[in-house]
Amino acid sequence: MTTQVSTSLIATLPGRSYTDPEVFERERERVFEALWVCAVRAADLGRAGAYRTVQVGRESVLITRARDGGLRAFLNVCRHRGARLCADDAGEVRRGLQCPYHAWTYGLDGRLVAAPNLTGMPDVDRTAYGLVAVALREWLGYAWVCLADEPPSFEETVVGDVTARLGDPAAIERYRLHDLAIGRRVRYDVRANWKLIVENFMECYHCATIHPELTDVLPEFTDGFAAQYYVGHGAAFGDEVRGFTVDGSAGFARLPEVADDQDRRYYAITVRPTVFVNLVPDHVILHRMFPLAVDRTVVECDWLYAPDVVASGADLSKSVELFHRVNEQDFAACERTQPAMSSRAYRQGGVLVPTEHHIGEFHDWVTRLLG
Ligand code: FES
Ligand code: FE
Repeated sequence: MTTQVSTSLIATLPGRSYTDPEVFERERERVFEALWVCAVRAADLGRAGAYRTVQVGRESVLITRARDGGLRAFLNVCRHRGARLCADDAGEVRRGLQCPYHAWTYGLDGRLVAAPNLTGMPDVDRTAYGLVAVALREWLGYAWVCLADEPPSFEETVVGDVTARLGDPAAIERYRLHDLAIGRRVRYDVRANWKLIVENFMECYHCATIHPELTDVLPEFTDGFAAQYYVGHGAAFGDEVRGFTVDGSAGFARLPEVADDQDRRYYAITVRPTVFVNLVPDHVILHRMFPLAVDRTVVECDWLYAPDVVASGADLSKSVELFHRVNEQDFAACERTQPAMSSRAYRQGGVLVPTEHHIGEFHDWVTRLLG
């Protein structure tokens, strides 16, 4: 629980929350393996046979495009003697997923379809020895997976959470994320605990100090009072700003269904535990975090545009550069913070000033989940 230090300062989590491998093990079990996490962009798995592997908590999860066109998720573990089935981050198979150890082969639907000498063992139940399925849902053009035996309601904990933050259930749908195309993807390997990255994303107290390009485009971020930017109204572009670009120059046409009151505004939403979404009139930026160790988090960031913009070969660089710089500035700040988490100066943690108080709610949420 966060404790009240005074009327204006709230204590953060203690330093060991960010450095103790035991805390991270509990988070793997009770956060990443218990809740829905955003795994892959569905369009990355274009045809039947395409697969990707992602780390979710302690598990490697394999996501495939099956012959019926749907996506399936499985634990990436051979049912014979437990070899890791697919070692690569991504790939494509023709005849099914074959284990490199003794060549058991699974269909794209997870069913065991062949094994050397299996004809001598007619009683092997090919379904019972199929890959272990993982719950999967598609939303916003991404596959979300949940490792829990009984996953929490996707509608309530993911969709409901996002729409509640935006105030208007239709707001995010108007960006039609599932129809957009990837213009750029950058993978950041951040030497920091995942909670530092979430906390940083949730506050704008640092914007004036480290984000000169962003505050030029969004002048209201200069005073740090941007907690409201994720509760629905969106931050307005500066009067002189023509687009959400690194120099404020024009971007692209407004996405067709984005409403007038969403135009020239920036919305940022945290979807716990591992996703950040930024909405601007002509594109969407979506971050997926993959916490790999107590002090290491891979963040995959997608810049999504109208398909005709990407197909036209338009120059996206000024558009991408703005948030790429913001990411580098943010992750450098997180990496600067991480080593000090083990300092005796931070044994009791730090403090949250009033514009950061909503981070206390995130701390309470994590603390509750860890029990
Ligand atoms: Fe996979 Fe033996 S461990 S076939
Ligand atoms: Fe930032």
